[in-house]
Amino acid sequence: MTRRVFRLQNTKAGIMMKNIKIVGICGSLRKDSINKNLLLHISRNLPENYTFVLADLSEIPLYNSDSEEDLPQAVKGLAEQVKHADAVLISSPEYNSSVTGVLKNTLDWLSRPIVDTPLSNKIVAIMGATPGILGTVRAQLHLREILFALNAQIIRRPEVLIPHASTKFNEFGEIVDERAVVVLKQLIEALVEEIKRSKQ
Ligand SMILES: Cc1cc2nc3c(=O)[nH]c(=O)nc-3n(C[C@H](O)[C@H](O)[C@H](O)COP(=O)(O)O)c2cc1C
Repeated sequence: MTRRVFRLQNTKAGIMMKNIKIVGICGSLRKDSINKNLLLHISRNLPENYTFVLADLSEIPLYNSDSEEDLPQAVKGLAEQVKHADAVLISSPEYNSSVTGVLKNTLDWLSRPIVDTPLSNKIVAIMGATPGILGTVRAQLHLREILFALNAQIIRRPEVLIPHASTKFNEFGEIVDERAVVVLKQLIEALVEEIKRSKQ
């Protein structure tokens, strides 16, 4: 079974220091997901020496501890991607006041085996968009707790909560809301700063 991975490179030959790798995880499998569009916005605006890979969660099975000894191929692939990434960026819708099942299932896989889990000490930034009024705040509070349990290094500020999303993207899925663009820029700055700090 082949895994499809959406690859976006923001590199320019010849400039730079080491290539920095970011893995994007979207809590929605929807083709036109607004949360995927948030990740794509970030990928287009990262510094040039950054590479962004959007993880493909479509083949990740439901978690089953019977498979822990021999992890499913899609899970192994994702775990490797995350292990080798300098940081992970999660964008998720809120479902019934929490994270989506897709995201929780993925994080459960990434939390095993208990020793040397891919997200342990990993820099993780989170964000979310919804057509609703609360901007995914309830999901993000739960997500922070889950990431805390996984010993991830969560970026605390800015909190990227995008409510009323139906008015903030154009027909091509690009963000047209100035305040959202500003906060996403602040998130990139915080991420870059944290990665720099981790390499000192
Ligand atoms: C099962 C389900 C539960 C939902 N629960 C919430 C919710 O609690 N809060 C909210 O703001 N939106 C909720 N929504 C609406 C989603 O925010 C909306 O479908 C959003 O577009 C999904 O994000 P996506 O475009 O990235 O797939 C729910 C949608 C579904 C399908």
